[in-house]
Amino acid sequence: MNRRTSFLSLATALALLAGWQVHAETTRVTFPEDLAQLVHYTTVRRGNVTEHIMTTPAALDAVKNGRTVPEGTHFVLVDYRDGQLYRYFVMQKGAGWGADYDERRRTGDWQFQWFWADRTINMNENTARCQSCHRSQSGSEYLFTASRIPDFDGSPVD
Ligand code: HEC
Repeated sequence: MNRRTSFLSLATALALLAGWQVHAETTRVTFPEDLAQLVHYTTVRRGNVTEHIMTTPAALDAVKNGRTVPEGTHFVLVDYRDGQLYRYFVMQKGAGWGADYDERRRTGDWQFQWFWADRTINMNENTARCQSCHRSQSGSEYLFTASRIPDFDGSPVD
């Protein structure tokens, strides 16, 4: 090996290593255009954490009536710590989006993303982690709080 090729393979190895450590990953999930269009249907409290969970009126209607949630739907979990906005967890459904992942990872046509309070993506998160936990909810559109939706009558279910 001459000096030039060994330099190139070192550079390649470092690039691969950096990519592996950072888990840099974007998904198809977009931050919702206008959070005010979403309906806050339930609140989850745990210690200093308060989560406001919201989605579209059409998705609430679909879940209440046992229909599938429409393509394009966002579910947003707004996470507050000690009353301060900390981050947003977002799941979004899109036609054919499941095909981006192999079957062992797939969560129907839902993809996931973690956004910081300034709405930038947390590039240190590997959203496979989100999927592996939400896969347990495959019977309810991969949602943990779907069972609260029928009880929603205009004020968030606590
Ligand atoms: C270890 C399990 C676990 C992991 C990992 C996880 N979640 Fe969840 N998620 C939950 C639970 C449980 C809830 C219900 C609210 C609660 O109890 O805090 C939830 C609720 C949600 C909701 C509200 C809709 C619903 O399912 O009720 C969104 C959106 C969400 N998670 C996105 C994400 C994203 C994005 C990630 C990864 C960055 C993620 N979750 C990782 C367990 C998990």
